[in-house]
Amino acid sequence: MIKFALPKGRLGDKAYNLLEQAGFSCRDYVADSRKLVFTDEDTGVSLFWVKPTDVSVYVEEGAADVGFIGKDILDEYRPDVYELLDMNMGKCRMCVAAKKGFQDDTSRPLKVATKFPNSATSFYQSKGREVQIIKLNGSIELAPVLGLSDVIFDIVETGTTLRENNLEVIDEAFRISMRLIANKASYKFKRQDIIRLTQKLKEIIPQ
Ligand code: PRP
Repeated sequence: MIKFALPKGRLGDKAYNLLEQAGFSCRDYVADSRKLVFTDEDTGVSLFWVKPTDVSVYVEEGAADVGFIGKDILDEYRPDVYELLDMNMGKCRMCVAAKKGFQDDTSRPLKVATKFPNSATSFYQSKGREVQIIKLNGSIELAPVLGLSDVIFDIVETGTTLRENNLEVIDEAFRISMRLIANKASYKFKRQDIIRLTQKLKEIIPQ
């Protein structure tokens, strides 16, 4: 039995469709149900849906053998897991953005609003720029608009949110896509199954 942690939402649904195509379907699975864990003895699949940020916790702790997770969450939480495969979906970028025409005043720490304080700290450490991180939980673009921060460190997908708030990208930290991750002990004890899963997914991942 392989236990899967899937992220709730559109990307998790897409990941599940790929699993079905790869032969790791779960007959018991019913979309839009309040049931939490679905199991199919025939295919050897047990799966459950959690908040995207929690996938790393379930996999790291071994409550799930494998999971699907965005590179943004992997970079922020750095779970002790194996990253097996780039699923080539959910593509976006982690960027620094500011109001149009923004000039950095290097005589003082840069105020950075973000949902990703660890990633933002590492990014600016690598640049040697002193920052004051302002941790927010959503609508990050509001921060520079209201003068709460100088810049934001956030995900840009289509760029619409930036455009509609007169902000622009001034730097790119890294590229994001969904990844398949595995618990380290599971990878040892369920090696054959996890390798088979990885190979099958590799064959059908859209390029
Ligand atoms: C994310 C991200 C940006 C937006 C980028 O927010 O934090 O705000 O999407 O997408 P775009 O480039 O296509 O406009 P999300 O929708 O997850 O909501 P949040 O503001 O509550 O974090």
